[in-house]
Amino acid sequence: IAPLVGKLSKLGPPGELAAALLTRVAGAGAARGGPEIPQAVGSINAVVGQAFFVPLYDLFLTYGGIFRLNFGPKSFLIVSDPAIAKHILRENSKAYSKGILAEILEFVMGTGLIPADGEIWRVRRRAIVPALHQKYVTAMIGLFGEASDRFCEKLDKAAVDGEDVEMESLFSRFTLDVIGKAVFNYDFDSLSYDNGIVEAVYVTLREAEMRSTSPIPTWEIPIWKDISPRQKKVNEALKLINSTLDELIAICKRLVEQEDLQFHEEYMNEQDPSILHFLLASGDDVSSKQLRDDLMTMLIAGHETSAAVLTWTFYLLSKYPKVMAKLQDEVDSVLGDGLPTIEDVKKLKYTTRVINESLRLYPQPPVLIRRSLEDDMLGGYPIGRGEDIFISVWNLHHCPKHWDDAEVFNPERWPLDGPNPNEINQNFSYLPFGGGPRKCVGDMFATFETVVATAMLVKRFDFQMAPGAPPVDMTTGATIHTTEGLKMTVTRRTRAPVIPNLEMKIISDSQEPTLS
Ligand code: HEM
Repeated sequence: IAPLVGKLSKLGPPGELAAALLTRVAGAGAARGGPEIPQAVGSINAVVGQAFFVPLYDLFLTYGGIFRLNFGPKSFLIVSDPAIAKHILRENSKAYSKGILAEILEFVMGTGLIPADGEIWRVRRRAIVPALHQKYVTAMIGLFGEASDRFCEKLDKAAVDGEDVEMESLFSRFTLDVIGKAVFNYDFDSLSYDNGIVEAVYVTLREAEMRSTSPIPTWEIPIWKDISPRQKKVNEALKLINSTLDELIAICKRLVEQEDLQFHEEYMNEQDPSILHFLLASGDDVSSKQLRDDLMTMLIAGHETSAAVLTWTFYLLSKYPKVMAKLQDEVDSVLGDGLPTIEDVKKLKYTTRVINESLRLYPQPPVLIRRSLEDDMLGGYPIGRGEDIFISVWNLHHCPKHWDDAEVFNPERWPLDGPNPNEINQNFSYLPFGGGPRKCVGDMFATFETVVATAMLVKRFDFQMAPGAPPVDMTTGATIHTTEGLKMTVTRRTRAPVIPNLEMKIISDSQEPTLS
């Protein structure tokens, strides 16, 4: 850089100005005396009109595990390298905050656990994690089974009536019903009805997704935000949700007061095992606003993610009939006629691998967002404070160097007798639930929920893409959605009849008898 400064000085600008100009041109790396992060060049048009993480994959193949992307005055670092992801998420996690994510979600999650940083996050994480203890998650298996059973009834009706079903919206309703009961003992019953509160939750969710993908923050424009019909609707929805949450908190407080309470590590109220009940019983000393923020955060975190996992799992199963056949084989041999128990779930090993692999191909969310709070080194490049960073889990999970046949849905890549794959045993090449101190608190919950639902559904029904169904393309909000839904034909499974012994002998001459 010194010779260039010299040349520029000779041409006119004084030394200091020349150095400043060059620092700008050369960027933060050179300013800190290190190499410069590769800068992706391209047009913004390449990114518009498709799920934004898709073009980031091609850029990753061109520019590598860390590169800079500029949008006008805004600049982002895109990380797709497992060692750098590990550094940010685990080794030096204190040097990073949630950045833009916290700003976008503030209107709905306030200082709930996902956007919170610093001391608030530390205190709230310590209060909430114990609520999801083993006994609670085991108890939730009953809830997952009951909700899946209601789901099956709904599908049964569609199967009998010969009507195709849009599975994505049903999965969304299923997981809303589950998370409402699990977090604050509220029965949305959205699989059966559309009521005001269900509508309010969806208005709020769509708004959060719109804000995370919109290039212009219209909701911040002073007058607009008061007169826009959309914003009015959002404010009304939030008001309804908040008052419902306040009511639920008040009811739960009364229950706790009436209880002969003996609080301990695995405390759980059998009638109301919800996370809210645990928090109040634990004497969690927190403002009602913070409690509401945390409940709302868990509602959103545990709703759309699980729904997206189920949506893409069923899409993949429709594309890979051999996987579906093997899955149904396992489910038939493990599940009886009653609801699944924890022992059953532990035996559903292949079903679990199907979910693990679905989460590899369609990670929810596809990127993790961070902002640097201080100078740091990433992959040998110096970075400054205030860098906005996207860790592309999508790129990590699709990296052709790391995965054999990366684009193939192959649950067999995870041996059944091996450990469940996670960020630790995959050394940050696989991050379905994040990693480090901010790892998902609901990972076990979500795995059991999606395993139970998948198992119960495929036990009762066959699923195929409906004839004439729209193509299944991706679009993003916080999670990966389909652009036009997942329209499927659902048919009751006819289990192979139990064949009397005599006939079995005759059949077995020519083929293996299959008994269900
Ligand atoms: C955080 C994924 C279900 C509650 C996260 C993170 C990921 C994730 C990747 C890390 C975000 C980051 O580092 O920026 C998922 C997936 C789910 C799921 C794929 C379903 C399949 C749930 C459920 C709950 C939940 C059911 C609640 C019961 C949370 C919370 C955090 C979180 C509170 C923030 C933790 C913190 O910052 O300390 N989740 N999640 N998630 N998740 Fe989940």
